[in-house]
Amino acid sequence: MTATVPVLTIDGPSGSGKGTISRAVAQRLGWHYLDSGALYRAVGVAAGWADLDLDDAGALVRCTFDTTIGFDESGDELRVLVNGHDATDELRTETAGAAASAIAAIPEVRAALKDRQRAFRVEPGLVADGRDMGTVIFPDAGWKVFLTASAEERADRRYKQLKNKGVSVTMDGLLREILARDARDANRSVAPLRPAEDAVRIDTTGLGIDAVVERVLALLPARG
Ligand code: C5P
Repeated sequence: MTATVPVLTIDGPSGSGKGTISRAVAQRLGWHYLDSGALYRAVGVAAGWADLDLDDAGALVRCTFDTTIGFDESGDELRVLVNGHDATDELRTETAGAAASAIAAIPEVRAALKDRQRAFRVEPGLVADGRDMGTVIFPDAGWKVFLTASAEERADRRYKQLKNKGVSVTMDGLLREILARDARDANRSVAPLRPAEDAVRIDTTGLGIDAVVERVLALLPARG
């Protein structure tokens, strides 16, 4: 019975620290981790490989059904396999993020990915990170968190992350991309980015990773 498996959802805009916090919390709890954005990014990457037009909704929906997405958790870093190829690094690029955000606005794509996301709900528990984990995919989750941070801080975090990887970007460009992606994610008609009514909001501006992880973990006994 999947419904009895505990779920903690962590939603929020890009750069709010969801991925880092969710992975750390999942590790501390010994629970599984779902990076739902990776599914949308994987379809975006597959669409790029197939040279699909991001305005061609029909082709993108077919691509969603045809794309196999696998997660390899055996190493230090979660690796994502798209159609059997390791696409982990390509998935993190802003191009993949922008493609994901365009594709994620198509209702049939979201519907096609619903069951794939729910399949992650297995014992002993799941930490699910995304935009609509608490509102649409796991509305019955026992704990829901909505992380925010100022757009400037989110751009700055992304800048440092990419710089570390040797990717050349500008702060201005990143800030523009983040604001554009936020606007598209918040304004789309299906599953827009918004906190679930019963989500606990945590503003991570100026907070370190450990402090946020502790705040999230502190919620669990209270609402279990
Ligand atoms: O979280 P991440 O930045 O990897 O997500 C990439 C894009 O995928 C987001 O900008 C959003 O448009 C989409 N997405 C979504 N719903 C989710 C996760 C991601 O629409 N649950």
